[in-house]
Amino acid sequence: MTTRDEADLADFLIVDDFVEPAREALDPKAFAYVSGGAGGELTIADNIAAFTRRRLRPRVLRGFPEVDLRTTMLGREVSFPVALAPTGFNRMAHDEGEVAVTRAAAAAGIVHCCSTFSTRTIEHVGEAADRPWFQLYASYERSVTESLVARAEAAGYQAVAVTVDLPVVGYRDRELRSHVEIPSEFFANMNPDLHGELADVVMHETDQGLSWEDIDRIRAATSMPVVLKGILTAEDARIAVEHGVDGIMVSNHGGRQLDRSIAALDALEEVVEAAGDSCEVYLDGGVRRGVDVVTALALGARAVFVGRPYLYALAVAGEAGVARCIEILREETANALHLMGAATANDLSRDQVIP
Ligand code: GLV
Repeated sequence: MTTRDEADLADFLIVDDFVEPAREALDPKAFAYVSGGAGGELTIADNIAAFTRRRLRPRVLRGFPEVDLRTTMLGREVSFPVALAPTGFNRMAHDEGEVAVTRAAAAAGIVHCCSTFSTRTIEHVGEAADRPWFQLYASYERSVTESLVARAEAAGYQAVAVTVDLPVVGYRDRELRSHVEIPSEFFANMNPDLHGELADVVMHETDQGLSWEDIDRIRAATSMPVVLKGILTAEDARIAVEHGVDGIMVSNHGGRQLDRSIAALDALEEVVEAAGDSCEVYLDGGVRRGVDVVTALALGARAVFVGRPYLYALAVAGEAGVARCIEILREETANALHLMGAATANDLSRDQVIP
């Protein structure tokens, strides 16, 4: 594991600058876990390509000297519309794990959504954090699900984001070839006897038959707002709205579930249209640059989530690395917003993005 001083981190100018140093810093299995995805990884590539395919129509002479990046997510002010997506087992990337991630998010005034498969407990992360969101993998045992949600609520979490795209773990070639093993101490929130290959342990703990009724039950069990993570179609977005959810995260799980799923950005517009004003819609997948953030906002996302970029930064330099990753995205987003002729995210319009 490398530690870098601040001067060194200033040389990281785009988030992708962290990728190769992360590959060097990490055990090859951990790198395979973080960087890999399902099948031939077509969807991983497409999440990024969907952004690079779009072209922007900037407006000029709008007469504002600076931009204001602030917005709200589920009623809470955030300093800019980028949040840290839930990712499993952060101590695989760095000893400081989720605590480093959540501290960097809190210092930057943005949301961190912490995974059920965190390597520090819900309570430990909650103490270090500022109202994180809790990503829920619902268990086949209802009492386990309810206790996870109750613990998050008691620990001051703001919202629960239920992952709905993992009835089974995707067929992840690289992960399977590397036999990524998760040590038992990494299951901070779960059954202490767990250990073994990732797909086996995840499947052991999660409900393969999750349904809309379970979403109703989770909503009834908590006063936290409920977000569904992993919706890619207008059809499911409409059902989600009927079930009263507070937010939808358009996501294909970073290309880790069904390879050849539609890119997150390509699914965004139909979900935004189906959700209307009923709930907030976020985009998760493929965001690497400020122009990506601005593109997603113009197409109707309230905010975007990033995953791998902050994990690579965590691997390279712990909390300071994550902080630098957030800072890069903030600078680039401010720059792109200004150049689009928008003083705030609300000033962006759909017609500024060519399909
Ligand atoms: C867990 O959510 C994973 O994608 O590995």
